[in-house]
Parts: sequence; C-alpha cells; structure tokens
Amino acid sequence: MLDVEKIKRDIPLFQNYPNLIYLDSCATTLKPRYVLDKMDEYYQEYGVNIHRGVYELSYRATEEYDKARKKIAKFINASFEEVIFTRGTTNSLNMIAQTYGMANINLNDEIITSELEHHSSLLPWMQVAKKKGAILKYIPLNDEGRITVENFKKVLTDKTKVVAITYVSNTMGYLTPIREIIELAHKQGAVVIVDAAQAAPHFKIDVCELDCDFLAFSAHKMLGPTGIGILYGKKSLLDKMDPEEYGGDMNNDVFHDNVIVKETPYKFEAGTPAIAEAIGLGAAIDLLEKIGFDNIRQHEKELHKYALEKLSSVSGITIYNKTADIGIINFNIDGVHPHDASTFFDQANIALRAGHHCAQLVTKWLKCNGTLRACLYIYNSKQDIDIFVKTVQEVVEFFRQFSEV
Ligand SMILES: Cc1ncc(COP(=O)(O)O)c(C=O)c1O
Repeated sequence: MLDVEKIKRDIPLFQNYPNLIYLDSCATTLKPRYVLDKMDEYYQEYGVNIHRGVYELSYRATEEYDKARKKIAKFINASFEEVIFTRGTTNSLNMIAQTYGMANINLNDEIITSELEHHSSLLPWMQVAKKKGAILKYIPLNDEGRITVENFKKVLTDKTKVVAITYVSNTMGYLTPIREIIELAHKQGAVVIVDAAQAAPHFKIDVCELDCDFLAFSAHKMLGPTGIGILYGKKSLLDKMDPEEYGGDMNNDVFHDNVIVKETPYKFEAGTPAIAEAIGLGAAIDLLEKIGFDNIRQHEKELHKYALEKLSSVSGITIYNKTADIGIINFNIDGVHPHDASTFFDQANIALRAGHHCAQLVTKWLKCNGTLRACLYIYNSKQDIDIFVKTVQEVVEFFRQFSEV
C-alpha cells in the first residue's frame, strides 16, 4: 500500500479539512503542494507570455512551457508535435468533432460510440451526425454493462468512419478492450478517438502501442490543475486538419486575404495559452511517475477489494459494477434517491457523487434515475473505507425506519 499519510500531508486541502474522506476523484483530484508550488513559481519568478517576447523572462517561460509539452509527449509516448494543449477533455473531444468530424463525415457515414460514454465523448459526435446526416450507432453493452469486442464487431461496417469511445467508463469503472477495437476499426478505414479522462490518472498510456488516432485527457483528474488538458493526434492526421480557432501565435504570415498557419501543435493553440497550468500538468506527471503507476494500481486494487468485501456484509444496497477494473463503486441505497443519501455522506465528511455523472445513457441502461459513486485514489486509506462503509450502513438503517412504518 502507498504511504497515504505522507501523500495527504503534501496536499494542502487536507490541512484545512483533516477529517475529509474524499471519494470524488473521478470528478477531480485534489492538488499536491508540489503542483501548486510549480504554478506559483511561474507567476512569481517568470510570469510573462511565451513565444512572443524577445527578452530573458519570456525565453524562460517558453522553455518551461515547452518542457511541459515534452514531458507529456514522453508520458504517452507521442512526439512533441502531436501533443496539443486544450482546456480539457471536453474541449479536446469537441475540437476533433468540429475539425476532423465536420471535414470528413458525410451523408450516411457511420459513427460508432457507446452508452458508456461521458457526454463529452458522445454529444460532439451526435451534433456532427445531425449536421451531416450521418448515422450514430451504439455498441450493445453486454449483461454486465461492458463494451466487448464481439459486440463491437456487430456494429462495425465498411461505412464506419469514426469510433468515439471511452477507455475507462467514469460510472462503471470498466476498461474497454481498446487495442482490439482500434485494430478492427482501422481494418475498415475508420479513425478512433479515445476518451482517456479516467485512464490517464490510473495507468500508463502508450499511444503508439494503442495505435489510436486521437486521445484526450484532463490535467485536473490526475493531480494537476483545472483549465488544461491534452489532445493527442497522429501527426499525419493533424497535418491535414484546419485549426478550430484563429488568432495570435498560430500563424507564420498574414496577408489581406490569406493566412499561413504554423505547423502542429501551434496551429491549434491560438491566443495566450494556460501557461501556469501546462507547467502544473508537467509537475503532476512528475509526481505520478515518482509514485509509480504499478504502485498506484496496486494500492487502488487492494482498497477496492477491501471495500467490496466490507460492503458485501451490508444488506439493502445495490452495487452495479462489482467487477469494475478501476476503483469506482457505483451503487444505490435501495429505495432511496441518491441525492437524499448523499446528504448523509456529506454530514459524515464524505465527499462522493450522486446523480448521473454526465453519462445519462448508462444510468438509463441501469434503469435508475441516478446512482452514488465512490472513487478511490492514492490518498484514500482502509480507514476511509471503514468510515465510508459504516456510513452506508447508517444510511440504510435510517431510511429503513421509514419503509417499515
Ligand atoms: C470519461 C470522461 N470523459 C470526459 C470527461 C470530461 O472531462 P472535463 O470535464 O475535464 O473536460 C470526464 C469528466 O468527468 C470523464 O469522466
């Protein structure tokens, strides 16, 4: 197990809320001091704009910004030109739909997605399909609610142009068999866009090994700051794509009736970027690599197993994803609306999510109007689980009084 006490000591928010049991890391992770300090260092020591200034401070800012991009490229095994800074996963996925999608999808083309998608992965392609007269197809989920290769084959045809798919489901914690899906999609000439928002915080991603065409993730879900994320794209595809936004810093030459844009990644980054946040993401990656993804996975697995074992002795709850691959527990207190239940957790200093988790199609598939979601991460301990399970038991007992009246 990881040294949770040490990790918590390095997160300032825990100093202000020492009794907080934070089980909402899928929504956003808490920020270590190291990440905050690196961002502060930028503002206090060299906080000027990048690329434009021909003076020492601007060179330093540019150097640190470039260093962050290099770090991220290495982190996912991409090249420097293939890593685009965006505002986050949502922004990355919309950008692909608006640029690649609008330019390449035509009438009756097919776009494959799934009911497990976060709205950020689904809705941009729904809009493209509507505007272009394309057909949106859903991979049927198996009985457990998983995406399988077998079911993917049922919807894949020679008309498939795009597969927009999650790597890890944010509600069920299931890992998609992404490599096999990418291989099959490529045989039909389709491009695959991977939503890795819930994958990047938990394990190493290798875009070359996956052979995905595009991949997106957010810094704030992996110990980094809000307001910044990554869009990875294969250089061969990015080279052919037009920018979504035009403005400063993305062009080489401007005429009265034309503009020569820069090469990727710069042509996709118009205007002043989130410089401190890029540096913050670089720092978060340093930390994650220092802790080690094998250790992170091991810690989460042990906690998850422990939590499921303890919860198995509580009657009156339904867990929807007992076989989750990532430490996400998606559950309900039987007969109790998740919002009512979550008030109790809040009173016990437990932060967890209640609702549809921006993935309404999964909730509909589960045939409920919302769920409670507890997400485990590096700063959670067995003690947190004990308090969480005790609270679940108390909530069950509290509401049972009324059902027995
Ligand atoms: C699987 C998944 N995709 C996309 C997103 C959207 O991420 P962001 O809000 O950082 O753009 C989330 C956020 O919860 C997510 O879990």
